[in-house]
Amino acid sequence: MTAPLLEGRVALVTGGARGIGHAVSRALHALGASVLVADAGVGIGGDAPDPSVANAVAASLGHRAAAFTADLASPGQAEAAVAAARERFGAIDVVVNNAAILRDGFIFKTQRDDWQRVLEVNLHTPFAILAAATPAMREQVKSGRAPGRIVNVISSAGLVGNFAQSAYASAKAGLAGLTRTVAMDLHRSGILCNAVAPFAATRVTESIQAANDAQAEYKARGLRVPAEHVARVIAFLVSPANGFTGQILGVRGREIFLFSQARPVARVVSEPLDRQDALALGGVLEAEFADRLTDLATDLELFNTEPLL
Ligand SMILES: NC(=O)c1ccc[n+]([C@@H]2O[C@H](COP(=O)([O-])OP(=O)(O)OC[C@H]3O[C@@H](n4cnc5c(N)ncnc54)[C@H](O)[C@@H]3O)[C@@H](O)[C@H]2O)c1
Repeated sequence: MTAPLLEGRVALVTGGARGIGHAVSRALHALGASVLVADAGVGIGGDAPDPSVANAVAASLGHRAAAFTADLASPGQAEAAVAAARERFGAIDVVVNNAAILRDGFIFKTQRDDWQRVLEVNLHTPFAILAAATPAMREQVKSGRAPGRIVNVISSAGLVGNFAQSAYASAKAGLAGLTRTVAMDLHRSGILCNAVAPFAATRVTESIQAANDAQAEYKARGLRVPAEHVARVIAFLVSPANGFTGQILGVRGREIFLFSQARPVARVVSEPLDRQDALALGGVLEAEFADRLTDLATDLELFNTEPLL
């Protein structure tokens, strides 16, 4: 009989007590990992913490599971979560940066406090967790342990944009950039880092306020997609069997997408500065780039098909 895919591995799953994170905690645990469920039990906007949420999930998993219920964005708590995983289970092999909050608003109505809070939870906290975990993960490799795996949960909003999500989309775009850099920084040690953009039914999908029929249909489709599909892909990516790094995968039910990443798609060489003014250069740019421009489609238009379940 072959050993379970994650036997003996130690995983830290942020936001691991609800929605997609909960499915990830269960999947990794079922595959043999020890799991620290790091979740403050906050509302969608990050308020009203409730430690009983993560405590209940850890208790239901039982053996090889524990809860960490502090607000991970508070000073020192990302580091404390990593320390807790190591103290409790003796190592840190897997990090799934999944916790996130939403505070939507059009750019012309956004409050700076909301922007800051979203960036703190959705981008600064994954950074702090990786800054705390990766020294230990590198040391473990040096002492002969199989190299660790990292998954950052992003959003198509950070890749293609979305209405009224300036803070959320910026944080997720930042997390995609962090994924690339972490993948490069850790490549020599064999530790791999990827990003996953999920689509799944959670309380966040339920909270979408549809402003028209197309949005109502998008929401209804989202509510049909179980989070377990996302968890299965993440379970593979955090396993020793995975060899991808620096990639962005999307998961919607049984559809798994590999996202392209920004590269130049067209090139113009301008005339010297004294021979071509801005307007003349602009004319060349318009002529050369016109059929290569990126449109303003949101993911509602890009993923305007029935999910496959
Ligand atoms: N649901 C979707 O379709 C969808 C789409 C795109 C991206 N995502 C991303 O997937 C991830 C999970 O989303 P979800 O829909 O399951 O959300 P959710 O709100 O159901 O779960 C998020 C969990 O994170 C925890 N959390 C938030 N801030 C925290 C903090 N500061 N400290 C500790 N815990 C904290 C919450 O308590 C909650 O349990 C997020 O990164 C989200 O941006 C989800």
